[in-house]
Amino acid sequence: VIKMSDLDLAGKRVLIRQDLNVPFDDKGNITSDQRITASVPTIKLALEKGAKVMVTSHLGRPEEGVFDEKSSLAPVAAHLSKLLGFDVPLIRDWVDGVDMGSHNLVLLDNVRFNKGEGKNDDALAQKMAKLCDVFVMDAFGTAHRAQASTHGVAKYAPIAAAGPLLAAELEALAKALKEPARPMVAIVGGSKVSTKLTVLEALSEKCDILVVGGGISNTFVAASGHNVGQSLHEPDLIGEANRIRAKTEVISVEDCRTTTLRFNEWRHDAPVLEKELDQVADNEEIIDYGPRTAAKVAEILKNAKTIIWNGPVGVFEFDAFGKGTETIARAIAASDAFSIAGGGDTLAAIDKYDLADQISYISTGGGAFLEFVEGKTLPAVAILEERAKAQ
Ligand code: 3PG
Repeated sequence: VIKMSDLDLAGKRVLIRQDLNVPFDDKGNITSDQRITASVPTIKLALEKGAKVMVTSHLGRPEEGVFDEKSSLAPVAAHLSKLLGFDVPLIRDWVDGVDMGSHNLVLLDNVRFNKGEGKNDDALAQKMAKLCDVFVMDAFGTAHRAQASTHGVAKYAPIAAAGPLLAAELEALAKALKEPARPMVAIVGGSKVSTKLTVLEALSEKCDILVVGGGISNTFVAASGHNVGQSLHEPDLIGEANRIRAKTEVISVEDCRTTTLRFNEWRHDAPVLEKELDQVADNEEIIDYGPRTAAKVAEILKNAKTIIWNGPVGVFEFDAFGKGTETIARAIAASDAFSIAGGGDTLAAIDKYDLADQISYISTGGGAFLEFVEGKTLPAVAILEERAKAQ
């Protein structure tokens, strides 16, 4: 692909597609600005190169064709202004032309307010392409979406290039997945085998050890014939769990922490029981790794050379259920391996234990990260490759 860093951008109108789709709490505060901070170096580089910079992104999944205050990038513009130390104006209507006035940087409001964005409408993409001399795709987190602002615009812009963040993401993921230093250990947690089945299958063919946690692990435990009580698990996927286990060494929970509390009763100081798998009672739910399992996985991680992590191994949002996830996060941080982590919950866990500086690479992608791990082609990257061949 053509890289933004290699281009002369002096005096050029540059449209940068970022993924500034950040999470908010119910009071409207940004709860993690990781995606915004990750975009800043790209913006600064384009400005240093003398470009007139228009940045855009989606936020949430608003209904197309209507403005919706809740999905406006206004809070993102405010945060970006704070990070950059100068005012970044937000332009609400921009598809038919952008007047930047004396500004060198503006933010164009949510691309998903435009009708046709989701279905990659050609006419919309052409209008976006007309706004710029150079289109820069830097939204790794949205690279799995073939939409007007990620794919269509790259087809029609005079020049279509990869931004530094996108390039760094692809390089880090390729390092971990294409020719990994071994042993390679993957940790896949989260609630359901069904939503991560293709990821588990892909990793079972690549990694030396596959560590599963959370509800995913419970399905593996059920597959080995144990009673999982009230635990979140998927009996229909026991066959799949067995097939994955036949392909690689799988570590699932061996001793566990359980609770008898139901979901709405969970709290930071909830009582937990430490149990062997054959002691789990019908009214209990497996909620976290036990200390022996956590220590075993930590030891495996210590000797790993490549680590891929997606998904917590317990309900770490509640302190009482977070010991397994904390032990594993700390072991990844302490390991000499090339470690890469992705996904919203995983990043929240890394933040909670303040380990971000000690992970080799933290991806800004959720769905895109998983699709890359699955070996799928990311359409927004594929179009850059096509354009590079033709240019
Ligand atoms: C994400 O948060 O995974 C990306 O921003 C993509 O968002 P989407 O799933 O709404 O396309």
